[in-house]
Amino acid sequence: MVELLKTFRTLAVVGAGNMGSGIAQKMATEGFDVVLVDVDDEKVARGAGIIEQTLKEAVERGIMRPDKIASIRDRVRGTSRFEDLRDADVVVEAVFEDLALKQDVFRRLEGICRPDAILATNTSSYLVTDIASAVKTPQRVLGLHYFFHPAKNRLVEVVSGTQTDADVFRRAWALQEQLGKIPIASADASGFVVNRFFVVWLMEAIRMLEERVANAITIDEIAKRTFGVGMGPFELMNVSGVPIALHASTSIGNAYGPLYAPPELLRKQVELGAPWSLGGTIHPEAQQVVSERLMNGVFTAAKALVDEGVGTIEDVDIGARVGLRWRLGPFEMMNRRGASYPIQLVKSRTEHGVATITINRPDAMNALDETVADQMDVLFKRAADDPTTTGIVLAGSGRSFVAGADIRFFIKGIETGDVGRIEQLTANLQAQLRAIDDSRKPVVARVHGLALGGGVELALACDYIVATPNATLGFPETGIGIFPGLGGTQRTTRRVGTGLAKWLVLTGQIITAEEALATGLIDAIASRDEIDDAAVKLLAGGPVKERRPATPSASYQAIADFFNSNDVETIRTGRANTGGDERLEKAMKAVAHKAPLALRLAARLIDDGAKVPLDEGLRMELSHVREIFSTRDALTGLLSIGKNRPTFEGA
Ligand SMILES: NC(=O)c1ccc[n+]([C@@H]2O[C@H](COP(=O)([O-])OP(=O)(O)OC[C@H]3O[C@@H](n4cnc5c(N)ncnc54)[C@H](O)[C@@H]3O)[C@@H](O)[C@H]2O)c1
Repeated sequence: MVELLKTFRTLAVVGAGNMGSGIAQKMATEGFDVVLVDVDDEKVARGAGIIEQTLKEAVERGIMRPDKIASIRDRVRGTSRFEDLRDADVVVEAVFEDLALKQDVFRRLEGICRPDAILATNTSSYLVTDIASAVKTPQRVLGLHYFFHPAKNRLVEVVSGTQTDADVFRRAWALQEQLGKIPIASADASGFVVNRFFVVWLMEAIRMLEERVANAITIDEIAKRTFGVGMGPFELMNVSGVPIALHASTSIGNAYGPLYAPPELLRKQVELGAPWSLGGTIHPEAQQVVSERLMNGVFTAAKALVDEGVGTIEDVDIGARVGLRWRLGPFEMMNRRGASYPIQLVKSRTEHGVATITINRPDAMNALDETVADQMDVLFKRAADDPTTTGIVLAGSGRSFVAGADIRFFIKGIETGDVGRIEQLTANLQAQLRAIDDSRKPVVARVHGLALGGGVELALACDYIVATPNATLGFPETGIGIFPGLGGTQRTTRRVGTGLAKWLVLTGQIITAEEALATGLIDAIASRDEIDDAAVKLLAGGPVKERRPATPSASYQAIADFFNSNDVETIRTGRANTGGDERLEKAMKAVAHKAPLALRLAARLIDDGAKVPLDEGLRMELSHVREIFSTRDALTGLLSIGKNRPTFEGA
């Protein structure tokens, strides 16, 4: 067992090349101090240059504010002195892909870094265990396999070597989530999870070219369509380097055989030193054979790696969607073609009597849909009925808790005239949340990031809510033409009173964890490193039987009074007296932009619900779901998400 730090401060990267510089950039962007080491000043400067260039591009594309560049740049300290790694909490090695070199680097790291520092390798083709075998403390070595471009691509494979300490793995995993990465676990096996099937996608394409099944551009075109991806295998190899494809297939082929191994044509192409030719015309008649062969190859590899325990079905699919940007993962594709692989969007783990149920749709910010709801229900009931389980924690994977209900499901329901299905899902979810509420075992919501709409409602059904300092919570519903239908108009009141419940629901104000604590919406704040312990501590308080609204601090009392003493119409039309209070002015303006029907219903449900038992309030809420989803404003609002603010007509 290694003694580990509670909180990471200084991170480090060795090797300031294409991967290392991007990894350092991402770490700095997320607020960490980073030491970036390379062999000499020139290489260090080159790495800094890559970071500068990438940041500039991000500003040009409007995805980063120009004033952020300087602070990110300042947080990365480039150096050619290994001794500067002395204070690093985590070091990621990203030097050339050469086993002896990597082992040498790890030996040097072991000599310099603190004994509690975590040492990670970004190797693509060696085993973590082989690299770790060079040092005396292999228990603190693991793999963190990032994908190009590591500041943009969110996937990271977290790899345990045979001797990696479980706590090292857990802490490194949590750090990835803190960095905004989407981690998946991989066994220490050649190609890990993603390259194992990705390399087959590439090799099968080359084999088809070799066998003259079709030309490269035809294969690319069909691959793009079949996998819903932006680049076909040949174009992608041209961009990322044909020799890298040879290198990857050689090592994975050595481990697993001919399906993965490089065809002769690939060797020839590398010898030629030229990119693949994408000339000629597309032959659509090759569609069937090309797409079948690509899929069969990928499916075979995906099934094999799951059978061998290298990765799970879910991780294969997340890896494909997030790392390779395929529209669907291999197992989702197989299921659409008639297979029935059980895909677990919710997972559960019990430790020391505490069951942690985690929604595992990180790339959809853990949005609630029918499948998630059903799976969560099964796992929750199992934990609730298990006599050895003393408490339950609800969590989300990745960077968010739960970003709400699945909007696409709503839009589809409205567009196909099947609002009944939306009502049904709402009813099911309400019943599940009621079961959480009624559970005789205490339940904690562990909100380590974004919680919106249905996500807040899920948390509110728990006995306790603990959030990380960077968590944000809010009800965006009235801004998209609907109202919170999973108890948001009922349980919020029971925590913060009618005034603040209206403030939250009618303005859609997104609040910080600190504000949520001050209003009584949540119970505790804990850092990302301490939130699991904090959740367990809260469980010790047992289930909460009767909830009374907290008394808000004086600064929130004014807001509560304003929303209690003015009706929604007066606020909506800007006629309420704010006494010049800036926050009230801001709140009034926010309400003016929301959908009028949704506002009226929400306000009424909050007022009426406060006077009746929770069950009755929930029934009232549910009874208006069909009505609100049948309005034109609901469709306008839902379709506006990610676009400009909608204009509501009040119908
Ligand atoms: N390029 C990719 O798409 C990709 C994806 C995932 C993982 N990887 C892995 O990441 C690692 C780095 O790949 P890259 O593409 O960034 O390579 P790169 O050639 O761009 O960068 C490697 C850097 O390491 C530096 N270096 C070499 N020896 C060093 C030493 N002893 N100390 C400090 N620095 C040293 C080099 O000067 C160079 O700047 C490799 O292990 C590779 O397999 C690459």
